[in-house]
Order: sequence, then C-alpha cells, then structure tokens
Amino acid sequence: MLQSAKTSARPVLRVGVVGVGVMGANHARVLAEFPGVELAGVADPDRKQAHYVGSTLGCPALASVEELLGRGVDAVSIAAPTHLHRDIALACIARGVHILVEKPIASTVAEGEDIIAAARRAGLTLMIGHVERFNPAVQAIAAAIRKEDILSIAITRVGPFPPRMSNVGVVIDLAVHDIDLICWFTGSQITEVQPQLSNAVAEREDIALLQFRTASGVLAHINTNWLTPFKARTVHVATRRKYVIGDLLTRQVTECYGFQPDGSYSMRHLSVGHAEPLRAELMAFVTAIKDGTPPPVTGEEGVASLAIAIQCLDGRPDAEPAPKSTGLVGTEPVQRRVRSAFVKS
Ligand SMILES: NC(=O)c1ccc[n+]([C@@H]2O[C@H](COP(=O)([O-])OP(=O)(O)OC[C@H]3O[C@@H](n4cnc5c(N)ncnc54)[C@H](O)[C@@H]3O)[C@@H](O)[C@H]2O)c1
Repeated sequence: MLQSAKTSARPVLRVGVVGVGVMGANHARVLAEFPGVELAGVADPDRKQAHYVGSTLGCPALASVEELLGRGVDAVSIAAPTHLHRDIALACIARGVHILVEKPIASTVAEGEDIIAAARRAGLTLMIGHVERFNPAVQAIAAAIRKEDILSIAITRVGPFPPRMSNVGVVIDLAVHDIDLICWFTGSQITEVQPQLSNAVAEREDIALLQFRTASGVLAHINTNWLTPFKARTVHVATRRKYVIGDLLTRQVTECYGFQPDGSYSMRHLSVGHAEPLRAELMAFVTAIKDGTPPPVTGEEGVASLAIAIQCLDGRPDAEPAPKSTGLVGTEPVQRRVRSAFVKS
C-alpha cells in the first residue's frame, strides 16, 4: 500500500520489522532514516523490547506479525529467530508483502524452498540478509578480483563466544556468511565439502575448519571459531596475477601484483568506501521493490549457502541444523535483556 508523500510525488513505502532483538533493532533504526520509507511498525512478542525500539524510533510497537500486517505494510524485514523465518515469511507473502529475510534464510533447505516458491507465486520481492556482501571492504575485494582467474580463497572469521548464545553453532551462525561470499566471489557453486568441526567448549560446534572446491575449480577455506579472544575477519584471495588481502573490520584492502621471476612484486592499498553495510543492504531491498528489479541477494542464493552449511554439519543436504529454540543452551538460560542495540553493523 503505497501512500503519497506529503513533500514529494514519489510514493512512500511502508516497511515494518518483525523481531527487534539485536539485528532487527538495527534494521528498524536504519529504515527509520530512509527517505521515501515510513517505518510502519515493529513487531516482537517481547513487549518491553518492542516498546523500547518503537518509542525510540517513533513508530507503533506491536506484539505479532499479524498485528503489523493488519496495519498495512508494503514490505517487512524479518529478523526473528531463524526457526520462525518460514512461518513469518509465508504470513507476509500471503498478504502480498515483500520480504527481506535475515540470514540464514531458514532452518532447513525445505523451509527455504517454501519461502522461495511462495514469493515467486505471489510475484513479490524476496531478499536474504547476507549483509557481508555490502561491506565496503568485501566490495573492494570483489571489484579487485572480478576479471581475474581466481585460484583460492581463505576466510577467517573468529572471535570470542557471543554474549548471548543462540541455538546454532559457528557453521550456521558465522560460516554461512563466508559460504555466500565464496559463491559470490567465484560466481560458482560449491561442489565439494570437507569439514572439520569440534565443540571444544560449547554444546554445538565452536571450531570449524571448512574446505571447499567450487564447480569452477576454486579451492576455498573457512576458519571460524568462538574461541579467539578478539574478533578477526580476513579474506585472502589468490588469483593468477594478484594476491588480494582484505580486513573486513578495519576495511583495509591491499593487493599484491606484478609478480616478477625474481620473487619481487608491487603492492597497493585499494580505495574502500565507508557505507554502513546494513544501510546499503536495506537500500538495495527498497530499490528492488520500487524498481521491480531482482534483489542483489536472492532466495536461491540463501538456500544454496544454507545447504552447504548444513552439509558441513553432517553431510546430509537437508538435515535440521538445530532444534527449535528452547530458550536454553546447555544448562545456561538465554539471557533476555532490553537491548540498547542501536549499534552500527
Ligand atoms: N546478518 C547478520 O550479520 C546477522 C547477525 C545476527 C543475527 N542475524 C540473524 O538475525 C535473526 C535474529 O537474530 P538476533 O541475533 O537479532 O536474535 P535476537 O534473539 O537478538 O532477536 C530476535 C528477536 O525476535 C523476537 N521474536 C521471537 N519470536 C518472534 C515472533 N514470533 N515474531 C516476532 N519476533 C519474534 C525475539 O523476542 C527477539 O527480540 C536470526 O535469523 C539471525 O541468524 C543476522
């Protein structure tokens, strides 16, 4: 339901956010600032959290997706726990509402495929929140290797245990970002998977060393864990003519090139933008809806990354990676809190 803006002929897109925990609160913060968008409401059964986010951003705070849909929205950003993505997505699609679904698209490949099929039938935009693609350092790496013959990719994504454990391990929580990047960088699909996993401290895997081969012949490696006392996110890409190194946190990207027979080479720092990745992602979602163009991260890509992540867990392409949330991880209760979560991603 597009409304006429008071100050412009451009229609205003009414967008809501479902699930305003750590990630959804940031979706709402970003959407509240967009020109041509009205943050139509936030929905979360945690009323305290919904009220906190709604009152901070000046939008209605609702208890459920049904209440939000009842208010009339054009699009919804879904940042509820992953095991709820399918049902919430299908409820939105049934009301003709475009959706952005946080990564991973769903708990299982079958659930992800349900979302894709429903969105396709309804002719609605479906985008997946693989926000790392919008990191300016990742975009600089992608630009540097675009016309190159990629040989190998090594990604490190490590850090301490998250303050609030979810019901998934590092493969579904972290490595799925990098599986998506490997496919995106190479423009190819992963065809061979060699995972090494360990749960050193947690109930689920907290260390993963994952090796892949893509259909295009690229070898790739992901090193991820929750046991490193500091956060590190690096990408190294070897191509036939260049070696590109990116630090996704400091956003420094360097390329080595001009390899000489004597072993010498040149180095240069590449120019990297400053955009907030989540803002760029949500802007791409809104633009895809307004222009009727395909979104930059499709449901099919979301399912492909999830399928590989699940295969890493136990080799079965359609295995359930985690039980539905019980609110408990081991014997530790999930710590609920009203989060002053408006941090930049
Ligand atoms: N793209 C990224 O980098 C990134 C980072 C973190 C999380 N995520 C994804 O975002 C999603 C949420 O993760 P989070 O860390 O923000 O979790 P969170 O627990 O902080 O927030 C989830 C929120 O959803 C609410 N919720 C529960 N049931 C709901 C329902 N039926 N309807 C609406 N809201 C409901 C909860 O009350 C909570 O406030 C997950 O899918 C996660 O994988 C993505």
